[in-house]
Amino acid sequence: MKNTQWYKEMAFYQIWPRSFSDGNGDGIGDLYGVYEKLDYIKSLNVDGIWFSPLYVSPNADYGYDVADYMDISPDYGDLDIFKKVLDGAHERGLRVIMDLVVNHTSDEHAWFKAGIADKAGPYHDYYFWRKAKPNGKLPNNWGSLFEGKAWEYNPELDEYYLHIFAKKQADLNMDNPAVREEVKRIMRFWLDLGVDGFREDVITFISKKPGLPNDRLTPFLKGIRHYSNGPRIHEYLGEFKRDVLSKYDCITIGEAPLMTPRTALEYIDESGAKDLDLMFHFQHMGADCLFTDYIPRRFSLRRLKRSFTRWQKKLSGRAWNTLYLENHDHPRIISRYGSESHRTESGKMLAACYLFQQGTPFIYQGQEIGMTNISLQTIGEYKCVMAKNEYKKKTRWPEEKKMALIHRASRDSARTPMQWTCGEKAGFTTGEPWFAINPNYVTINVERDNADEDSILNFYRKALKFRKDNPVVLWGSYREHKPMSKWFYTYEREYQGVRLLVICSFSDKERRYTAPSGFSLPEGEPVLFNYAHPPLNGNTFMAKPYETRVYLFA
Ligand code: GLC
Ligand code: CA
Repeated sequence: MKNTQWYKEMAFYQIWPRSFSDGNGDGIGDLYGVYEKLDYIKSLNVDGIWFSPLYVSPNADYGYDVADYMDISPDYGDLDIFKKVLDGAHERGLRVIMDLVVNHTSDEHAWFKAGIADKAGPYHDYYFWRKAKPNGKLPNNWGSLFEGKAWEYNPELDEYYLHIFAKKQADLNMDNPAVREEVKRIMRFWLDLGVDGFREDVITFISKKPGLPNDRLTPFLKGIRHYSNGPRIHEYLGEFKRDVLSKYDCITIGEAPLMTPRTALEYIDESGAKDLDLMFHFQHMGADCLFTDYIPRRFSLRRLKRSFTRWQKKLSGRAWNTLYLENHDHPRIISRYGSESHRTESGKMLAACYLFQQGTPFIYQGQEIGMTNISLQTIGEYKCVMAKNEYKKKTRWPEEKKMALIHRASRDSARTPMQWTCGEKAGFTTGEPWFAINPNYVTINVERDNADEDSILNFYRKALKFRKDNPVVLWGSYREHKPMSKWFYTYEREYQGVRLLVICSFSDKERRYTAPSGFSLPEGEPVLFNYAHPPLNGNTFMAKPYETRVYLFA
């Protein structure tokens, strides 16, 4: 049995290619742009790159609707430049993992088209095609997570197909062994090219309950109990592992909406015997919302801490955590859990609040320079299918209220072009950018942060370097202090007598802080902080807004 452990010491940088860097001036980020930025990525002290989908796609969901799994979208380049980027990354000691999106394909994928053209042929059963019920009703009552009901009608066949996500994302029928063989072919294709693994998109959704029964229990996200962690999920993931993944030195990270630690342990474990190496769960992203960013609630630090601590504890010694605060699916973290008016301070504090936990950290493009949410005037300017749909659903809401929700919740805020310089088009492109650039690029950009020793960017670099150099961060035990505090998140790591204390204020006001018992702050070495020369008064200090301090006790 393979037992890959290298991912534990790594940190990953996530690239959403369309908005990272445009190398050929057509306004769309691409692999030529990535190639030019490999040294920059390396300079962050990360060890790997996760690429959001680079495949051929009509972009109904920007790459998460794949029309050809074995080629690079012409928007991003071709297989030659991909190979060059891959080799360039490897030469720099950066591993590369691909997004694997096999819960669904685009309705423009050849399989889908063939299944319509020839109903008796092999491709029809690649998807879930169903007739309407005799009473004319949809095949079942499931809802789509992105657009209306989960069924879309096709007049040629007089049948409906299942789509858990957008209409242009048709769910694959993984119960069909031919589909599983296709998945394995896709995996082998990229692994043979030299990639180091996969981030597996909504992988916990790939096994649907036979018969696709109605969901009479779940009040919203209707149907989810019949396709999340479905009956044959472990069988399928086990098959992928046995037939393909175990033959390569690679890792898998499963994206898992609504995942709990207990269920996660059915998928991942220390020995490497289970389905996956790592998982992305969502619990800590619910500190200011319920299930989705579009059902907002007031931010609660206690809720955030409970999630952090629950995962640290429950997985300890059993499986390995992933650590993230941003990706392409959520608004910017400073705008959510921090404060745009204390951007630099809260940006660094948020880095400290997660990078020193135990697990493999992920940093999303732009997070390292503290990019914030974009506020566009009209829904027409937004790009995301979810944003448009949520806007449409709120028929009774006044315009301002709808736009305020979109501003707060839209994934588009993570998808505006990367801000490289204060020059033309933020240094992202020489052409017309495909999507709005946040006007704050004049002050928030890589060039400026690079030149400033005290920038968020350099804080990330220092924090990631510190993590690498200090076994206590990699391997130490985790303990939370003051869990009931409304303002402070305090956690301790301990390894072979060395202790690390991480103090994070989530308050925009000054607050008195007292160290937990067993710590004498004056004896600690302040290794990272976001206010210069932080004063101490014995074991107490007045914490400034969003202050963070990391003390080492060796
Ligand atoms: C995952 C992706 C997201 C996508 C969805 C459907 O959640 O991260 O971007 O829209 O799956 O593929
Ligand atoms: Ca381009």
